[in-house]
Amino acid sequence: VTAVPRCVSQIDTPAAIVDADVLEQNIGRMAHLATKAGVDLRPHVKTHKIPEIAHLQLEAGARGITVAKLGEAEVMVESGVDDIFVAYPIVGETKLDRLCRLADLVEVRVAADSWAVLEGISAAAVRHRLRIRVRLELDTGMGRCGLQSTEQAVELALRMSDLPGVELCGVMGFSGQSYAAANSGEIVEIARAEGAQVEETAHRLRELGLDAAEVSVGSTPTSQYASLMAGVTEIRPGTYVFSDRTMVGLGWGDFDDCALSVLTTVVSRPTPNRAVLDVGSKGLTNDPSPMQGFGTVQDNPDIKLSFLSEEHGVAWLPDGVRIQVGSRLRVIPNHACGTVNMFDHVYVVRGDNVLDRWDVAARGRMQ
Ligand SMILES: Cc1ncc(COP(=O)(O)O)c(C=O)c1O
Repeated sequence: VTAVPRCVSQIDTPAAIVDADVLEQNIGRMAHLATKAGVDLRPHVKTHKIPEIAHLQLEAGARGITVAKLGEAEVMVESGVDDIFVAYPIVGETKLDRLCRLADLVEVRVAADSWAVLEGISAAAVRHRLRIRVRLELDTGMGRCGLQSTEQAVELALRMSDLPGVELCGVMGFSGQSYAAANSGEIVEIARAEGAQVEETAHRLRELGLDAAEVSVGSTPTSQYASLMAGVTEIRPGTYVFSDRTMVGLGWGDFDDCALSVLTTVVSRPTPNRAVLDVGSKGLTNDPSPMQGFGTVQDNPDIKLSFLSEEHGVAWLPDGVRIQVGSRLRVIPNHACGTVNMFDHVYVVRGDNVLDRWDVAARGRMQ
């Protein structure tokens, strides 16, 4: 293990950089927003995959965390996190046993949207002599997982009440379609519609005497409107912790609110208007952004990162930009979650000082 450099100029590139002040500010901003709206905050840690950051979120008031994959959950539990929502359908005996082992150690909730998934959880819970709390997932317009109507949710919830080892505790939605919203008005509409849909379902379930106290929603763009979603009890934003170019495009803060950047070195200047960076899709990913291009250069937004190959980033420079081979730039990525996943660790900086180096301990945990 190499020593942590003391200043940014000593960090070899490409490298993921986290600005400590902006990170803290982003964590505080969402915690405040949740408190003001009177809802629990359960951040999705897929954005950072870093236990140190999960603990900062918890210290700032988050109720627990959300993960997609059991591998992420295992890393977080090992670091001391004790309240996890697995917002993903868990299928297959191997995984169900891992889910139960987690539920034996810490407080676990899991999502389900079908009888097949529920039967699997139930059988595993019985094998492990546990009861597992389940939230039914509704498709709130993204077109991914989720029950397609309140009626379907009611039918499944009623059937579920006879299953041993599982316990209904609420409903969830996820409106990832908010990423494609054209303006803030559309985001408000998506948030309102999601809130109304999950609350209507939860209400129907409660009328039938079922437990649907927990009503969970949220992406970063929609979570900011939590106060408009009556009946919602929890938001699960993830990207807010770093923000990224896509979030800025959607009006969630500015580039100054982006905590994550990729430090890169110019390795070629083939023409007056072209610079080639030492980071390509293996660092910045090929994730698109409505803003076009593959990132925004901090302090020089006129530079266009026009295409990436695996290890090269090709930038178009306006006339007069003074960049040479050896110059170093910081690029705000299109999508923070995918970018972090490309790096073994992040350097935590304040100004030119490197405060720490954190392992991206849950990177690549797809299983
Ligand atoms: C189920 C679920 N909840 C919450 C989130 C967090 O959304 P965002 O990253 O937009 O904040 C995600 C992100 O993919 C998700 O899949």
